[in-house]
Amino acid sequence: MWRATVLTLFPEMFPGPLGLSLAGEALGRGVWEIEAADIRRHGLGRHRAVDDTPAGGGAGMVMRADVVAACLDATVPAGDPRPRLYMSPRGAPLTQGRVRSLGHGAGVVVLCGRYEGVDERVVAARGFEEVSIGDYVLSGGELAALVLIDACVRLLPGVMGAAASGLEESFENGLLEYPHYTRPRQFEGRDIPAVLLSGDHGKIAAWRRAEALRLTRERRPDLVKDGPALV
Ligand code: ADE
Repeated sequence: MWRATVLTLFPEMFPGPLGLSLAGEALGRGVWEIEAADIRRHGLGRHRAVDDTPAGGGAGMVMRADVVAACLDATVPAGDPRPRLYMSPRGAPLTQGRVRSLGHGAGVVVLCGRYEGVDERVVAARGFEEVSIGDYVLSGGELAALVLIDACVRLLPGVMGAAASGLEESFENGLLEYPHYTRPRQFEGRDIPAVLLSGDHGKIAAWRRAEALRLTRERRPDLVKDGPALV
């Protein structure tokens, strides 16, 4: 079973929204599993301290390497094959390709930072790879972990049914997805493009490819600068 282990100071945030809808139903059916390990339980002293002031001075606090390591070592066996990801705005950007490969594996171990981040030494010593979900800063890694896990779980067999077979989805073919329409035929004076009602599947497919390309050039020229990967 695909399994996510999340190391966090806020275990109550999991499964959170992943307990609802398709991901939640699949969780209930045992298609995947999530475990949130409370880093605070490994904190030091009467106050269970998990952070300290940054070496070299400066603002904020840094999560202690020994505390994070203790939490990981108590939660994840040494030979666990799952990749260890540390959610951080400094990380390599998450892509659909990476999501796909994570979805095909045994699961993920995800470390969520708070404050200014985590002591660099535990990241190195325990083989964490830094992953970012975008060029903006969240107040902690938890929401980023939920995003990453959601993106993986929806690809697991049996989670999305027919919809996830979507090779047509945004990014799956290197392009943004074409626009969708449904009833009513007219909405506030706007029609469904006639080709979609024509019944000509060849024409419909060609229109969708052209729209996908047009939208991608317009909104994400970075995705098509060397021509689309696959059209
Ligand atoms: N933690 C804070 N901001 C983040 C981001 N953009 N991606 C991943 N983890 C984060």
